Amino acid sequence: MCGIVGYIGKKDIDGILIDGLKELEYRGYDSAGIATIKDGDFSEYKAVGKIKNLEAKMAQTKDDKSYNSALGIGHTRWATHGKPTELNAHPHIGDYSYVVHNGIIENYKELKDELVSCGKTFVSQTDTEVVVHMFEYYFDKLQVAKDAFDKTITRLKGAYSILLISKVAPTNIFFIKHGSPLAIAKSKDKEFFIASSETPLIGVATKVTHLEDGTSGVINQQNIEFFENSGSNKIKNIKWQELPTSKLSAQKDGYRFFMEKETYEQSDVIADTMMGRISDEKIVFDEIDENFFENINHIQICACGTSYHAALTGQYLFERLAKIPISIEVASEFRYKQPLLQKSSLFIAISQSGETADTLEALKMAKKAGLTTLCICNVDNSSMTRFADKTILLRAGIEKAVASTKAFSTQVVVLWMMSLYIGKTKNTINKTTLKNELKALKQTPKYLLVDDKMHQKCQRLSKRYLHGHGFFFIGRDIFYPLSLEGALKLKEISYIHAQGYPAGEMKHGPIALADEKLFTIALMPQSLLADKVRSNVQELIARDSVVLALSPQTFELADDFIQTKAGEHYMHEFFSMLVVLQIFSMELSIRVGNDVDMPRNLAKSVTVE
Ligand code: F6R
Repeated sequence: MCGIVGYIGKKDIDGILIDGLKELEYRGYDSAGIATIKDGDFSEYKAVGKIKNLEAKMAQTKDDKSYNSALGIGHTRWATHGKPTELNAHPHIGDYSYVVHNGIIENYKELKDELVSCGKTFVSQTDTEVVVHMFEYYFDKLQVAKDAFDKTITRLKGAYSILLISKVAPTNIFFIKHGSPLAIAKSKDKEFFIASSETPLIGVATKVTHLEDGTSGVINQQNIEFFENSGSNKIKNIKWQELPTSKLSAQKDGYRFFMEKETYEQSDVIADTMMGRISDEKIVFDEIDENFFENINHIQICACGTSYHAALTGQYLFERLAKIPISIEVASEFRYKQPLLQKSSLFIAISQSGETADTLEALKMAKKAGLTTLCICNVDNSSMTRFADKTILLRAGIEKAVASTKAFSTQVVVLWMMSLYIGKTKNTINKTTLKNELKALKQTPKYLLVDDKMHQKCQRLSKRYLHGHGFFFIGRDIFYPLSLEGALKLKEISYIHAQGYPAGEMKHGPIALADEKLFTIALMPQSLLADKVRSNVQELIARDSVVLALSPQTFELADDFIQTKAGEHYMHEFFSMLVVLQIFSMELSIRVGNDVDMPRNLAKSVTVE
C-alpha cells in the first residue's frame, strides 16, 4: 500500500533513495518518484510503473557523487485515488514544497474544496495533494515551517505516514506517522534514513526506531526531534534498537513464512479495505457512479480457487441483503458452457492477481456479449482491471505466499460492503438493518486477530491429524463456502486430501466414508443454524469419525475443540474461524516439512488455461 523513503546525509542521495524504493516495491509499483535538495539545489523525478522506469529516467542526470549536504524523499505508489499517471505520482508538489504519503486522507474532499476556495490549484486526483497545499497555506500565514506542518497534520483524518520537504526549510525533513507504518534509522556517519519498513534500512544504518501512531518530528543533518501527539511541541523520548542484518527475515517482519505474516496482517489489511468506504449510514465506492447498479437485475460472478470461494460467500450476502438474483460459476466452466448472457446482468470478475487466464477470458466473453463488467481485484493495472469497465481494489497489499489468505478476507469484506451498497440503492434493506450491518462491518478487524493461545493449540493439534485417509470440512450457510476454503488451504500446502462439504449433505453419500480414520473439521457457529450443524456432527461422531470442532461454545462430544470468537454478527464468527483454518493448515504443512510459501505444482498467478 505504497512505500516511502527519506534520507539526510552527505552521500549519493539518488542511489540511496532508489535502492530504498526497490526494497519497498512489494508495497506497490504503479508509479514512483523522488524529490531532493543537494547542496541547496532542488530537483524531482517521477515515472509511471516500476522503479526501474524511474531509474532509467534519472540515468541521464544521475551523478553518483557525495555532497556537503543532501536530503530527499521518495515514494513507490499503489494507486488508491486516481489512475497510475505521472501527475498522480508522488512527491506531490506545491509552489515550494514536496510531499510523499502512504495511507489514505479520508477527509481530502472537504480539505480540497476549502483550499480551492482559497485559490490553490490542484493537478492530481490524489488525496495526498491536499497536504502540500495545506502546508503552504499555513506557512504563508505563520511563516514558521514546523508550525505550518503541525497545523496541517491536525487537519487530516484517516491513516497516513507523511514526509515533507520545503524550500522554506531546506535542511529539514518533517515527518508524521498515524496509522501507516514508518521507521527511522541512523548510521554511524551522521545520516538518517526513513522508510515504510525495515528492509531498506538494513545494511545502510545500524539503529532503528519504529514510530508509534501520533509521533511527528523533524530531522536535520545534526539532529532529530520527536514530538508526542500529532502536531504538539511536547518532546517524545524514543528507544533506538539494533537493526537486524538479514533482509529476508525483515521482509517477513520476523514471521517464519509469508503465509504466516499475511494471515496475521489480515486484521490491519481489512481496515485498509474499508477505509474511506464506510460511514454510519452508507457505503461509498468512489470507483463507481451511484447509479451503477440501477438497471441491473441479475449478477453473474466468475472466479477461480480461493476467489471463487469468496464469490460463493458473497452469494449468501447478496441474496440476504441486496435481494438480487446472483449466479456464481468457476471461470473455467463458465467459458465453455455457452452461458446465456443478458445485457441486464452485471458481470463481476473476482481475482487477487487480475491475471488468472480463465477469469480473464470469462470477463472478455461477458464484455463481448455487451454486459457491464466490474472487477474486484488486488492488483491495479493488471489485465483484468484494464479490461473491466470498473474496478474495486482490495487494498490487501502484495500477497506473496501462494496460498491466498488476506486476498480472501478482503474479497469477502468488499462483497459484504457491496451487498449493502446495492441494498441501499435498491431499497431492499431498512435503515436499522443497514445501521447494524455497518456497525458489524466496522467491528470486523478484531475478529481477524490471531490469538496466541489458538495458534499454539493449532501447532499442538497438527501432530494428531497427520494420519488417516483424509479430511472433511463441513459447515452450513455461509460456513459452507468457508469449509471449501478451509479444505483448499489444507490440501494445497499439506498435500493431504481434504474436501469441503455442506454439513447437511453428508448423509446423502459421503458419510459412508466415516470411520476412525476420517477427520472432520466441523464449523459450528452459535449464530446460524447451530442446532442443525450439531446434529450433523453427531451423526459423524456416531460413526467414529474423529472430529475437531471450531465453535465459540464448548462441544464436549468432539475429540478436539478450538474456541473461536463469538460476535454480534455471523460474519464475525466467519472471520474468526477463517484465521483458525489458515493457521491450522499452515501448522500441518510445517509439521510434514513442506514449503509453506511455495507448495509443489502451484504458482501464484495462473496465466494458463
Ligand atoms: C489458493 C489460491 C488459488 C487462487 C486462484 C485464483 O490459495 O491462491 O486458488 O485463488 O488461482 O487466483 P486469482 O485470485 O489471482 O484469480
